[in-house]
Amino acid sequence: MTEIVELTPGQSVKVATKELVVRVKVRGYGRGRLTVEAVATGGLFASASKSGPDACDWTASQRAVGWRVVIEPQWWVHASDFCFVRFGFAAHARDPAAPDYLGVEFEPLTLEATQFSVAVAYESEESQMPADLREAYRAWHQAVTETEIVSSTLVLAGRRALGREKDQELTYGEVLFRPFHRLLDEVVKPRPGEVFVDLGSGTGRAVFVAALCWPALAACKGYEVSPPLHSDAARCHGELSGSVMAPVELHCADVLRRDDWAAADIVWIASVCLSDGTLRAIAARLVSLKPGARVVHMTEHFLRDDDAFERVAEDPILVEMSFGVTGVFVARRRGPSE
Ligand SMILES: C[S@@+](CC[C@H](N)C(=O)[O-])C[C@H]1O[C@@H](n2cnc3c(N)ncnc32)[C@H](O)[C@@H]1O
Repeated sequence: MTEIVELTPGQSVKVATKELVVRVKVRGYGRGRLTVEAVATGGLFASASKSGPDACDWTASQRAVGWRVVIEPQWWVHASDFCFVRFGFAAHARDPAAPDYLGVEFEPLTLEATQFSVAVAYESEESQMPADLREAYRAWHQAVTETEIVSSTLVLAGRRALGREKDQELTYGEVLFRPFHRLLDEVVKPRPGEVFVDLGSGTGRAVFVAALCWPALAACKGYEVSPPLHSDAARCHGELSGSVMAPVELHCADVLRRDDWAAADIVWIASVCLSDGTLRAIAARLVSLKPGARVVHMTEHFLRDDDAFERVAEDPILVEMSFGVTGVFVARRRGPSE
């Protein structure tokens, strides 16, 4: 019989058996990481499950001195109240039909152990941010409206106001602070004095991440066609009035009826639901971007065969959004001699 123990963050146990299943509650956390860490003399196998102690079917399939199993509770709560993590001396075969789990990673540990022990800890996403961005992280989360409220109320009101109840292009989804910050920081690399623009800016989340994290940007601008979404962005901007941030401009406008955004250095388009016709019209305006400008989008074929642009990375960059993980592409405007 395998022993099962329920542990909460801060708790640890010494294990006297050859195998232990740890049950950890995944409800009641914000965005962050629960870690279930085990070490043992001679090494261990680790596996995890959403459905029960006997179904630990997701595993790194190798032995290590110890394992840190990282659980992101936000990906688990829809499937289960608990996660189950099994540590043992014997390998646990992976069911080839088992799905790939989102929100669990197995990190091998290298510390030699003198006994079999397990510990659970929790680290909030805020504490994982660089110290100088924690205030921005807090301010942003306090100011923005919950995605569920935006989707269930504001998006519908916007569709009705525009008489476009069934229009796919008004499908909503939005950026999350840390994943979007990481994308900008690691790939786009905003520079002081540059202008950031979001085409279809919704409630302004992306605009505010850029403005709060890069206060030396010359401006961060959002263009949103849906009046209720634009109004919520304006409300949010008011909430952030005490924060250090780059100047923000929010426009309630159809991006196809404006061309002032073509002076930007960084253009974000959450383009996943835009039609080919709309993307072609946007691409025609993007040609007037200055050399070195970066266009960040979600559509594989967009700007791919356009000589005015080069792909910064050929493979999609995986970015977590409010609706799941999606591939993002970055195109850089070439200079005249390139
Ligand atoms: C997927 S959401 C992205 C929201 C935000 N950019 C973000 O990443 O968090 C796309 C937004 O584009 C807006 N939109 C669609 N077509 C537009 C257009 N032609 N002009 C302005 N906004 C548009 C939609 O109303 C929606 O709010």
